[in-house]
Amino acid sequence: MVPYPFSEGNQSWPRHQWYIAAWSREVGSVPLMRKILDQEIVFFRTASGRATAVSGLCPHRQMPLATAQIVDDQLICPYHGAAFDAEGRCARLPFQEHIPGAMNLRSFAVEEKGPFIWVWDGDASTADIGLLPDVSSLGLMNENYSLFGCGLRHVRARSQIVLENLFDHSHITFTHAASLGTRTQAEGPPKSFDITDRAGYLAFRHSSPCRPVTEAMRLLFPAIGSFMRVDYRVELFGVALVNTVGTESVSCDEQGESQATAGRMNFFHGITPETATTTHYFLGGTRDFGQDNDDYTSVLAERNERVVDEDIKLLESIEPYLERTDARSEPNFTTDATAIRVRRRIERLMQEGAGAGHVTAETAPEAF
Ligand code: FES
Ligand SMILES: [Fe+2]
Repeated sequence: MVPYPFSEGNQSWPRHQWYIAAWSREVGSVPLMRKILDQEIVFFRTASGRATAVSGLCPHRQMPLATAQIVDDQLICPYHGAAFDAEGRCARLPFQEHIPGAMNLRSFAVEEKGPFIWVWDGDASTADIGLLPDVSSLGLMNENYSLFGCGLRHVRARSQIVLENLFDHSHITFTHAASLGTRTQAEGPPKSFDITDRAGYLAFRHSSPCRPVTEAMRLLFPAIGSFMRVDYRVELFGVALVNTVGTESVSCDEQGESQATAGRMNFFHGITPETATTTHYFLGGTRDFGQDNDDYTSVLAERNERVVDEDIKLLESIEPYLERTDARSEPNFTTDATAIRVRRRIERLMQEGAGAGHVTAETAPEAF
């Protein structure tokens, strides 16, 4: 059976792509063992600070290396003492010179960028640094931005529905009534978007009307004029990092002409398959205004966590019914167009296989 929600093939996520494996700060001088992309992987840092990743089970008797000691940049298996170097090669056995074949651990390609450690889903020799998403617009490595509300959730639902949900604008009124408030028909999902679609990047943008600046907004943006609008965007970087409700608050005149950007904020979501039906969910935010306002930071972080937890609860309630569901027989609403576009993009990458990532530009619009 084709894995839900795809229309063909037997893959649950695109191979030969980069996925977020861990927060940088999670990886240190003791092993971090995590199941990612259906594989047990151990992450650690060498004495020089380089992050490295190798398969997490000792080939001898399948001992998990989560509790391995690290001595001179080598992992020491806690069961019979085999030593593995940072590339996974078995360097030494305690009671014999000869190292049998098949004692090496698999080495994974990893890249550390800002707060994330990324892992390549595929043989390390095929790792394509050109496919590592360019997330510079999120401000993760920009000193003018602050990072807040970083967390990690385990989700008992498949990664693709977690991903698509982030592009589903019409669920907000119902799923997030408690956290974001109910919305009127007029405030419902945007009717249209400006779309940017290129290799490794897909974005949907829309803008609010220009409105008089409220007192609350003036507290956040002291230099703002009398009117403002907010430009919203939802972005997919690569295959597994989403910025949803990315906002740019723009000072404008009464006619809506843009004057200046007052502040930018992003809520990013790293969606990494754990297995075919479970997911690691990295969440957090960045902004370049009001950084010393700790109360505001707390409000934003707590609300984002609440929203994410509402989504997770919903997705976990759906997952048990997906094994026998054929997505091709599901009806779609007009408001599903953005999420379906993401699905088709991911499907295309899966079909392209090893050459994935070099997506052709503008795709034909979906008919609903
Ligand atoms: S299980 Fe690791 S050395 Fe035996
Ligand atoms: Fe949601």
